[in-house]
Amino acid sequence: MQFTRIRLYRVPSTQDWARDWARMAAREGLVVVAREQTAGRGRLARRWVSPPGGLYLSLLLRPDWPLRRAQQLTMLVSLAAIEACREVARVEARPKWPNDLLWQDKKLAGVLTELESNGDRLAFAIIGLGLNVNNDFTASPLAATATSLRMVTGQSWDLDEVLETFLAALARRYQRLREGESPHRAWAEHLEPLGRRVQVLRQGAPPLRGWAVGVTPQGALRVKDDAGVEHVIWAGDVSIEKPRRDFRRGS
Ligand code: BTN
Repeated sequence: MQFTRIRLYRVPSTQDWARDWARMAAREGLVVVAREQTAGRGRLARRWVSPPGGLYLSLLLRPDWPLRRAQQLTMLVSLAAIEACREVARVEARPKWPNDLLWQDKKLAGVLTELESNGDRLAFAIIGLGLNVNNDFTASPLAATATSLRMVTGQSWDLDEVLETFLAALARRYQRLREGESPHRAWAEHLEPLGRRVQVLRQGAPPLRGWAVGVTPQGALRVKDDAGVEHVIWAGDVSIEKPRRDFRRGS
């Protein structure tokens, strides 16, 4: 895949820039990168704090897919970001359903996938990645929940090297995906919270308690409740209730 990089200094959100370019018929592979964002956003309209030091990018992809496969793009970007953290900084991150990267239970990165559709097919997807590279959260209200490559390793990392390593990994994985290899197995291998007792909060539904037993190829979480009924969760907030039990086999 050919990438076209647009580098910006300070913008409200790279997602908006990428979406505007996509609506003007920009080609797949457009990458909008900003040094900082003043209105970075995450899933569920949460704020994504984006001072200089982090990697903030939005990528335009146009796979000719049904909408229900869109979560595979989130998986792809998460896996490519994990590879970049490993290759550049030797940091082993793991994915958390549906869109986070964790290092030892602290958030290292988040992925935000925003879609436009033609009926039930994807017109395009803007996949945003916020990766905490040189951010310092020690004196921040996020200190208990967030971390960065610099906080993990004690040294600063070159943002361009992280970006280029990420894009190379993404291009490889996107090619394999287009050849028919689903990323869901690699993504599920170390996925939090598989094998754990969870509580799921969903809009308009009572809280669901049960065991996270697997994911579907489209990325929905499979949760088995105490009556043994399996629920397929497409969106929601998942918190962990109890230590791990091994459900991974067969998931
Ligand atoms: C989340 O954790 O909910 C997802 C966070 C995604 C943040 C990235 S930073 C680059 C891009 N621009 C945004 O406004 N958000 C995404």
